[in-house]
Amino acid sequence: MKPRLSARVRNITPSATLSIDAKTKALIAEGKPVLNLSVGEPDFDTPVAAAFAGVRAITSGKTRYTPAAGTLELRKAIATKLMRENGLTYQPEQIVVSSGAKHSLFNIFLSLCDEGDEVILPAPYWVSYPEQIRLSGATPVVVQTTEASGFKLTPNSLAAALTPHTRALLLNTPNNPTGAVYTEQELRALGEVLLDKEIYVITDEIYEKLVYGVEQVSFAAAVPELMNRTLTVNGFSKAFAMTGWRLGYVAAPLDLAKAMSSLQSHATGNPSSISQHAGLAALENFKPAMVAEFHRRRDTLVRGLQALPGVQCLLPDGAFYVFPNISHWLGHRSGGQVIDSSSKFCDLLLEQELVSAVPGDAFGAPQNIRLSYATSYANVEAAIGRLQRFLATLQP
Ligand SMILES: Cc1ncc(COP(=O)(O)O)c(C=O)c1O
Repeated sequence: MKPRLSARVRNITPSATLSIDAKTKALIAEGKPVLNLSVGEPDFDTPVAAAFAGVRAITSGKTRYTPAAGTLELRKAIATKLMRENGLTYQPEQIVVSSGAKHSLFNIFLSLCDEGDEVILPAPYWVSYPEQIRLSGATPVVVQTTEASGFKLTPNSLAAALTPHTRALLLNTPNNPTGAVYTEQELRALGEVLLDKEIYVITDEIYEKLVYGVEQVSFAAAVPELMNRTLTVNGFSKAFAMTGWRLGYVAAPLDLAKAMSSLQSHATGNPSSISQHAGLAALENFKPAMVAEFHRRRDTLVRGLQALPGVQCLLPDGAFYVFPNISHWLGHRSGGQVIDSSSKFCDLLLEQELVSAVPGDAFGAPQNIRLSYATSYANVEAAIGRLQRFLATLQP
């Protein structure tokens, strides 16, 4: 007999990025020369100073419980970072450190939302957002953005999505999967729609360091009037290549920070003491060389994609993803099979040319695919060649 699962978890869809990852890893395990452009983590090492700080934490007995919201030392360092780099004034008491930004977001939705609340979610969106919102009892209100607006939410479409149940707006800049980065003016224009409303803004800025020739602006810096209704999310995974350390944080209005700390104290206790020590050292050891290398790969990948037949690709300003439109190829055939979705496109691309990409369906964008350039420059170049070969085999 199958066990009964709670209604809460019964409808969770497994992360599509994880399922393509599993297929990719299975092929790699068989020894196949897969080009993996489905990854969501930097292919660089954690800065040595951070790694050693982690080792020192282990060998010097810093291996015990910490305060639920993280050590005061780390929260002070994060407050200093937010002031210095983002122009935001937060007290250490307003910062809650968690086991990854994913966990910070989970704490946010659980602390902010009730059954019946709505969270405005611009699409394309990162796969975990809608599931986390639903788990909190709230409803994601997906607002489609278009390539014409650079995949950015506009003030008009934000205003049109507001209802008396709107609890929060969720922004992600730089964006996963599109790489879009909002300008200060764009953030300001969105903020102005919310000035006289009791609506919170959750701004996920985890890719903030990965911008190419543009300035990254924090939402609360662009709209200081909304500072006391903004939750700024960030973490160590992307900027410091520390995905496995599981360390992220949110800076929030004090009452919410207290609630999240309390929630966390009963759930996971505290983020790993070892990771917190590593994170403290990481804040002082950012490596701009990583950004320069991502920049170079982005340019090559976008140039290659733009030259492919039937593929449109915007030049994204940030993160390490490109999000080309492959709608021209939907309805085409490969052998006996019809490409009826971006998932089918990605499945066949993986099977036939051993290039792993993530279907846009997973991000609420069924006409696109996501390619990550968190892989070597040589792989990026080779992937373009294989994509070209794959498209040449497709029949109308
Ligand atoms: C937009 C976005 N937010 C948050 C996260 C979570 O990062 P972390 O490793 O800190 O949990 C990711 C990871 O892919 C992401 O893409």
